[in-house]
Amino acid sequence: MPASPHPSLTAALLAWYDRHHRELPWRVSPRQRAEGIKADPYHIWLSEVMLQQTTVQAVKPYFLKFLSLWPTVNDLAAAPVDDVMAAWAGLGYYARARNLKKCAEAVAADHAGVFPDTEDGLRALPGIGDYTSAAVAAIAFDRPAAVMDGNVERVISRLYAISDPLPGSKPAMKAKVKALTPTERPGDFAQAMMDLGATICTPKRPVCALCPFNGDCLALKHHDPQNFPVKAAKKEKPVRQGAAFVAVSADGNILLRRRIDSGLLGGMTEVPTTAWTARLDGGISRDDAPFTADWQMAGVVTHVFTHFELRLTVFRTRVETEKEAGGWWHAVTDLETQALPTVMKKAITQAIPLAFAPG
Ligand code: ADE
Repeated sequence: MPASPHPSLTAALLAWYDRHHRELPWRVSPRQRAEGIKADPYHIWLSEVMLQQTTVQAVKPYFLKFLSLWPTVNDLAAAPVDDVMAAWAGLGYYARARNLKKCAEAVAADHAGVFPDTEDGLRALPGIGDYTSAAVAAIAFDRPAAVMDGNVERVISRLYAISDPLPGSKPAMKAKVKALTPTERPGDFAQAMMDLGATICTPKRPVCALCPFNGDCLALKHHDPQNFPVKAAKKEKPVRQGAAFVAVSADGNILLRRRIDSGLLGGMTEVPTTAWTARLDGGISRDDAPFTADWQMAGVVTHVFTHFELRLTVFRTRVETEKEAGGWWHAVTDLETQALPTVMKKAITQAIPLAFAPG
């Protein structure tokens, strides 16, 4: 029996996890764990940073790509930052990639390539906050840290029918997770809570009949699990707009630039764009192009960021000579090697429909 103040809930969840856990490339399964195989802290840390704000399905290929390029944290620490940004392109929230690199450098330089094995030690590293320190401490080092992400919030809010809205209810939820977390197998417990939220206790149509908590779940008792977690009303996202300029040369190259390191998409690659402004009255114009040419309107693409929706009017042109325009010219057939965020891929595709092979 696991050591937990709620032995029946914990035991039921771990028994469910033993049978129904997801196979994930960074995960040590309960069977492997019983055979003495230990999780690799580098793999756990890398996957947890990638998994923030991003789904498991989207993360898998990126995780495998990173491990093949940089098999150890020391390899990642030694990698050029632009290579790391290019490998991250498409995962979003690019500050994560810059922090990933800084954290790898700190582990390599200050810890001889060995991750600290406590929550506090991990939190002292650059770019590691409450979530990542708790997740890595629990999953890589079996520390009884309370791990809470969106999936866990949903499970807990339903189990205890927490009616206070998020985000204000987070501390109360965390206290519940802390109280449930066992001292034995805390890493499996954390992963089990996340798997339960991802596969059974889903936002819509949860499969309560298969849930190990179904005898205890207060939301289920009141017949309304779908109404949890309660969330504070969302404000509508403001809209910003700008223009993007896709120039292709007779040699089949496209004009690219590097965004400044700070701010949104910092350090990533872009096609030249204007500033993104909240003013929606006019203002979008060919006049802001990087050089004078026969710029044609190619259409508008939209992209939703955390704090605003962006509408980019895309202009395209074909030029004979590759002008010096504060960037570089790169083969349209080789864009996968560039650190292009999704919004820029959308803009390029609007101008050159077959620029990116599907899939
Ligand atoms: N989501 C984020 N981290 C996870 C993990 N370790 N297991 C399952 N889902 C997750």
